[in-house]
Amino acid sequence: MFCIDTFAAHCKTAMAAADDRQAAAAQLMAEAIAVHGPDAIIAALDAAVPPGASVGELIVHASPEMTLLYARIPAKFQSGIHNHTVFANIAQLQGEELNTTYAKDGDRLAVVEQQTATLGTVLTLPADVIHGIANPGNETAYALHLYGGDFGAIQDERSLWDEDSHEELGFSFPALVQQSVKAMAKADNEVGLDALVAAIPAAKPAVDAAKARA
Ligand SMILES: [Fe+2]
Repeated sequence: MFCIDTFAAHCKTAMAAADDRQAAAAQLMAEAIAVHGPDAIIAALDAAVPPGASVGELIVHASPEMTLLYARIPAKFQSGIHNHTVFANIAQLQGEELNTTYAKDGDRLAVVEQQTATLGTVLTLPADVIHGIANPGNETAYALHLYGGDFGAIQDERSLWDEDSHEELGFSFPALVQQSVKAMAKADNEVGLDALVAAIPAAKPAVDAAKARA
């Protein structure tokens, strides 16, 4: 059986002993998928979060060393552009996650590359990454995200970028949802907007407002 607390403890021990904390955590994530299988990990994560949890409530472990986030990505979801300020490892448990990374280009952001996290793999992103994620599939995608610091402690250091102007904004989970809604509305992604509301009922007012503007 996969146990989140045991896994977190193993990660912290391995990271403390490693020269490369990110690589040590990525190795343990890959091993967890190989040993337990993705479905058992999803079951443990589902049991750890409340029904209808908003994105900020999908944090299943937080400590000074690391945050574990249960990424339950609705069908066709597109996220706002954001950073983390700490490294991120994405262990894909079901479906796929498309990662688009950006670099500052004058007053704008320019796409650097796109990478897809596929089932059973662990995608590693550096601490200075600026990115957005998307679920290209028609079903919810599931992943375990491990970040190399405490999201609660670093929230004020993080940024979000406006979808239209690329203005740098302060990060919060509700603001991330707002920008995600904006990204999907801009792409006429009605499937993604509806799937977001089904997954996170708290997103409904923002989605209704975006639809009313369309
Ligand atoms: Fe991210």
